[in-house]
Amino acid sequence: MQSASSRGGTHSAKLNADDQPFTDMSTSRKADATSRLRDAMTSFRFNRRAFAATALTLAALGLTASKEVREPDDLQPDSEFPKGFRWGTATSAYQIEGATQEDGRGASIWDTFSRLPGKIRDGDNADIADDHYHRYKEDVALMKALGVSTYRFSIAWPRLFPEGRGAPNPKGLAFYDRLVDELLANGIMPFATLYHWDLPQALQDRGGWESRDTVEAFADYAGFVAAKLGDRVGHFFTLNEMRTFIELGYGNGSFAPGLVLPKARLYQARHHAVLGHGLAVQAVRANSRGNIKVGMAENIMTALPAVETLKNIHAAELATREMNAAYLTVMLEGRYTDAYLAAAGADAPRFTEGELRTISTPVDFVGINVYAPGAYVEASDAAPGYTAIPLPRSYPHMESRWLTFGPDTLYWAPRQVARLWGVKDIYITENGTSAADQPAADGKVYDIDRVMFLRQYLAQLRRATSEGVPVRGYFVWSLLDNFEWLEGYSIRFGLHYVDYLTLKRTPKLSASFYKKVIARNALV
Ligand code: FCB
Repeated sequence: MQSASSRGGTHSAKLNADDQPFTDMSTSRKADATSRLRDAMTSFRFNRRAFAATALTLAALGLTASKEVREPDDLQPDSEFPKGFRWGTATSAYQIEGATQEDGRGASIWDTFSRLPGKIRDGDNADIADDHYHRYKEDVALMKALGVSTYRFSIAWPRLFPEGRGAPNPKGLAFYDRLVDELLANGIMPFATLYHWDLPQALQDRGGWESRDTVEAFADYAGFVAAKLGDRVGHFFTLNEMRTFIELGYGNGSFAPGLVLPKARLYQARHHAVLGHGLAVQAVRANSRGNIKVGMAENIMTALPAVETLKNIHAAELATREMNAAYLTVMLEGRYTDAYLAAAGADAPRFTEGELRTISTPVDFVGINVYAPGAYVEASDAAPGYTAIPLPRSYPHMESRWLTFGPDTLYWAPRQVARLWGVKDIYITENGTSAADQPAADGKVYDIDRVMFLRQYLAQLRRATSEGVPVRGYFVWSLLDNFEWLEGYSIRFGLHYVDYLTLKRTPKLSASFYKKVIARNALV
């Protein structure tokens, strides 16, 4: 992909509203006027002043700007988000912190996995990552400049319990104390994720999520964090994307710990993850003095109606419920669907009624990570009531092949969560895109594809909130470029560009877009 600057340099000559108006229409000036007009049309600063200047430019070309058409800088009455809507950014410990050997942190399964030859693109690892462990103040300042009111980060379990359980490591806890205090001092509300995939290696050595011990250890660790940080952190997410770390880590082996388990063991690991969630919800509540809210951050697999008819809309809801049977559905309904158990047959997880009650311990909110559409469906008269339509080869995607471009996923996902399970408080815990970001000649990063992506997805989220879907907040993935798992540093998701040689952070064009959205609490 070419950089923005190599596509005709449209960013190098931004329209300056203070320029003199044209009086002469010599050929070169006419060409100049045309290019100024083009600049104005493509500039992200196409605001009132730019519009006025454009009118002058049009006049110079012998054209008139229509007064009937609203100026693009006007706040459209139907573009606002609900009052009190929380805007935030999201990160995870392993992807940004670095300092993996510092202050007594234990090894995690990702430290081990990333050392295996050929697993991570270019042989990268997260030993330094964004060095957030040392630069957290600078990163909080970036958030403050954006104007976010919330920040979703994760706590590294092996920093607090190097062996997964046993004696806590005070230096590890001290880091999160400092981070939380810095956020609060800057008026940013911390939302903490307890598990974003960096399982202590010591627990993996004893079976990881295959073992019931890990489940219990997770609940103990969750209770410990709530007791220590719960006076300042009011919102906790238990586990991030159970589907991803179980299916990829224990199912196809592409993620840490790299296991390819037979079905029965895989289904049991799934069951342990949701059980860990339920026990952690209880442990957080039992160990907090204040009014702590707790939920999960799951990557819902969303079925979208191929064409918006009532029949298809209902079929899509059925499909979503079934596609999430092992995760969101059991957490919110307290039962595995009949179809899930029937399909699993002899491989079905072993569980008790008591465990199902624990798994479905009521949550205060549901967090969903929303990126790509899971499936497009049409209603069918035959069981199970829907048919899935495969994506054609030409279906568009972003820089990451997996990130197919389906903005309406951000409409249907929260809507279905509200309709299927009566959820009253929903957070979009992740949404964002990779892009082939490259600094232009002027040092700036013009990620217009990310701006396009965010604008289109947010328009669909606004459709949802305007119809009463109870979405309370939205977190962009991610605050800054970071270690993107198997892709290492080759794939960038940040609103801020990170130069991995100097670790310098530079706000991208998308950061200025998001800042404007936040300031107006509206789509811009
Ligand atoms: C999500 C992960 C997050 C990041 C984004 C791109 O699945 O939770 O860590 O990798 O995808």
